[in-house]
Amino acid sequence: MKNIVLFASGSGSNVENIAHYFKSNPDVTISAVLSNKKDAMVLERCNRLNISSLYFNRSSFYEKDLVRKILRTLNPDLIVLAGFLWKMPRNLIQDFPDKIINIHPALLPKYGGKGMYGNRVHQAVKENREVETGITIHFVNENYDEGAIIYQAKTTISPEDTVQSIASRVQALEYKYFPKIIEKLLNEG
Ligand code: GAR
Repeated sequence: MKNIVLFASGSGSNVENIAHYFKSNPDVTISAVLSNKKDAMVLERCNRLNISSLYFNRSSFYEKDLVRKILRTLNPDLIVLAGFLWKMPRNLIQDFPDKIINIHPALLPKYGGKGMYGNRVHQAVKENREVETGITIHFVNENYDEGAIIYQAKTTISPEDTVQSIASRVQALEYKYFPKIIEKLLNEG
């Protein structure tokens, strides 16, 4: 049995999609979803989906090592950041080498870094008249959106595209590929 822990700060639509993907797979379980936002929609989703979830604050993450202790207990095969916007602490990355992955809604190394999330990314992509965008799934290191790239998928952009239409195509790529890449990494690990 493989177990994964997810981190999310927002709506949690990727969390729900991943949960749905693995629902009928007896070999993979989501042991917990951890969130740094008390009122994040992802926590409501977890209640509805019957997935254990936990809120943590800044000091339990960066100072008191509480999240690290929880992770050591859960001993996940993979830690998946699905819309999680805080930097991972160094000691946590050291505890789980090559076991923490993130998804970013652009083709890194472009359009990454602090403050680059959600529609801000798509807005910047549109303003720069990019002809393509996509998703990047990568290992997490101590800098935002910088670890080794595992997988990218692309979509083309036309001048008629809006931020919303770009967002929904990128989201479709996330839903299609993120669970499959998670499954592949679990099978390899
Ligand atoms: C996703 O689009 C993900 O790529 C992005 O947050 C969104 C979460 O959506 N992550 C980042 O921007 C990380 N820098 P969701 O809460 O609906 O799954």
